[in-house]
Amino acid sequence: MSANPDIKAPLALKGRVLTFNDVRDPGQYDYWEKGCVVLENSHISAVGEAGAVAIPDAAKVIDCGDDLILPGFIDGHVHYPQMSVIASYGAKLIDWLNAYTFPEEAKFSDETYAKTAAKLFLAESLRNGYTTNAVFCTTHPESVDAFFTEAERVGLRMMAGKVLMDRHVPDNLCDTARSGYEQSKALIKKWHGKGRNLYAITPRFAPTSTPEQLEVAGALYRESDGVYVQSHVSENIDEINWVAELFPEADSYLDVYNRFNLLGPRTLYGHGIHFSDTDIAMAVETDTSIVHCPTSNLFLGSGLFEYEKLNNAGARLALGTDVGGGTSLSPFATMKAAYEIAQFRDYSLSPFAAFHLLTLGGARALHLDDKVGRLAPGYEADLTVLNLNSTDLIHHRLQNVDSLADILFAQIVLADDRAIRATYANGFEVYKRDE
Ligand code: GUN
Ligand code: ZN
Repeated sequence: MSANPDIKAPLALKGRVLTFNDVRDPGQYDYWEKGCVVLENSHISAVGEAGAVAIPDAAKVIDCGDDLILPGFIDGHVHYPQMSVIASYGAKLIDWLNAYTFPEEAKFSDETYAKTAAKLFLAESLRNGYTTNAVFCTTHPESVDAFFTEAERVGLRMMAGKVLMDRHVPDNLCDTARSGYEQSKALIKKWHGKGRNLYAITPRFAPTSTPEQLEVAGALYRESDGVYVQSHVSENIDEINWVAELFPEADSYLDVYNRFNLLGPRTLYGHGIHFSDTDIAMAVETDTSIVHCPTSNLFLGSGLFEYEKLNNAGARLALGTDVGGGTSLSPFATMKAAYEIAQFRDYSLSPFAAFHLLTLGGARALHLDDKVGRLAPGYEADLTVLNLNSTDLIHHRLQNVDSLADILFAQIVLADDRAIRATYANGFEVYKRDE
């Protein structure tokens, strides 16, 4: 992973090009078999049929052949400190947090440890084609500094925040309502809007925050211009019952956040599996985004997300890897798990819907759909280049297949990181696969 060089020569990438054009409808897309995307001054300046796009004289032309150029992928929910927690055996949510996750997160008081983890995480994420992630750090401000420093060095559009937890966690992870507020406020001042960084106020989930802490988190969201909120909701039945005991006055888990002014535009909640119709309506009415984390939901045995219901209701939805409850930073593994969960809900998630969630749909959930997730003039120049024939099996499967839907579906089911040929961010190549 390379940092951005100083010189900004325009780039023209030629290849197959796919971009969605409507934040809600995956059927509205442009696909050029022989397309071209021009990157200039960190933005896309032109896109279209190769012959019709004017390429600046100074541009370096990169011929991607039959590769597919897409907007960079969006991961709407992930924990960078949990890279060493992936594949932890035999527990469901609460036991998994206590046995594996909290001991690992405690190590992030050490900024050197946090820096190493942030570098590894971002390198892996780019190797999987992701260019924008909504990221949980740990309770330590050092973990946020480490993450944003590295994201900014590479030139990435990233969202992240310090986890707020003032109860039901080990002492070495515990803050207070006051220290959490003050540290978050200082981090917002330091990082929000610096380069491409965006700050997310991050109460971990209702059980690990006192009402006082949720109160100040809501106040901070209301008083800070343009910042985000991220948390977890309705993931696991035991967790939901625990929340009902802790907050008996609330009508539901989502309503706890509602009562503390933590729902609204730019708020992202992971999971939302066990929602009532009232919860779904509350998410839509308050403009709250829900992030579906399918590999995590299967791995932790949390439940089967109701994509069709939430999507039909008009909810802002993204896909998340949720590493390390999630088992992979692969967009293909994530889309495949979303497809499989939808099958259990008697709904077939189309390949266009899956790639839309990963790009423009996800950007809508992150309120960034005017900046990333689409290949169109004025958008930020974040792209992913896919080798559509990355393995012998995929090559074999695609013999005599020419529909774009079938080509994309084969990638979802069969591809892995070998399919990510290159990743561009802010107009530069930030990852290239060694062939
Ligand atoms: N709920 C609270 N914290 C976490 C976490 O780290 N991962 C998941 N999957 N759910 C959570
Ligand atoms: Zn999570």
